[in-house]
Amino acid sequence: MNTRLKFLNKVALVTGAGEGIGFEIARQLVNEGASVVLNDIDEKLAGKGVAILTQEGPGKCVSCSGDASDVDFIRSMIDFTVTQFGRLDIVVANAGITLFGNFFEFTVQEFQKVVNLNLKGTFFLVQHAAKQMRKKAEGGRILLMSSTIGLRAYPNLTVYSMTKSALCMMAKSLVLELSPYEITINAIAPGATSTERTVLGDLEYESKWKNLIPLGKIALPADIARPSVMLLSDECRHITGQTWVIDGGWTAASPYPNFNTVQRSEKKVPR
Ligand SMILES: NC(=O)c1ccc[n+]([C@@H]2O[C@H](COP(=O)([O-])OP(=O)(O)OC[C@H]3O[C@@H](n4cnc5c(N)ncnc54)[C@H](O)[C@@H]3O)[C@@H](O)[C@H]2O)c1
Repeated sequence: MNTRLKFLNKVALVTGAGEGIGFEIARQLVNEGASVVLNDIDEKLAGKGVAILTQEGPGKCVSCSGDASDVDFIRSMIDFTVTQFGRLDIVVANAGITLFGNFFEFTVQEFQKVVNLNLKGTFFLVQHAAKQMRKKAEGGRILLMSSTIGLRAYPNLTVYSMTKSALCMMAKSLVLELSPYEITINAIAPGATSTERTVLGDLEYESKWKNLIPLGKIALPADIARPSVMLLSDECRHITGQTWVIDGGWTAASPYPNFNTVQRSEKKVPR
């Protein structure tokens, strides 16, 4: 076994990792020797991800499909991880939902759907994971998946934006609670990234965004995963409470597609 593998003997749990950014983070952890529990609400996607990563190795990968917004499931997922691999060192709260909707028409159900996964699911995943991590002297690493939309205003995404902004504060605030146990907690704020959801969901996604990004392209999942995995490594053991923005420079000016069109089409003032 290659002893230079950064995550040899480490056990990680990544949520929403059947595809997209989460899958790429799980892949890089497995490629660096970690044993990974790969969660996705879609059982088939989770199984497919595990099959790919088991083949790639050298770390191990097992599936734990289920809803990362369900607190009972979260508890069972932590127990499953410890039963499978004997410990828990790393948690990546990646699962998140993006729901566009007009502010004036946004429903309670829609609000709850976003908050349930992005905030409640993340909070209780961190709580249960940290309870497990504090049992051992080496502590642990926790990563939250925020967004540049948690740092800048964007039309029709207020609730998503609120939750992603809250995750940056969650990372900062929990420094006080988790540092005594040697647990670090940080957030990643990706900008426009090419995933199955974004690119297949909108064929113009890449062309719309790339000219608005100073570096001239949207991110690949690996562009987000590499720094994420770096933050999870011992090289970054003294970094905690931070949000790393990975956006090709977008937040420097934050232009977005069709700014004027969007503003005008929504300016319907009732009289
Ligand atoms: N893609 C981007 O441009 C971008 C930008 C900024 C932030 N993000 C954030 O990164 C994270 C991953 O986004 P993405 O675009 O890579 O993937 P995505 O949103 O397409 O979802 C990845 C996986 O999560 C699973 N999932 C959805 N709901 C779940 C639940 N309740 N429990 C468990 N799994 C669930 C899906 O089945 C899917 O396989 C999200 O938190 C998202 O908000 C993405």
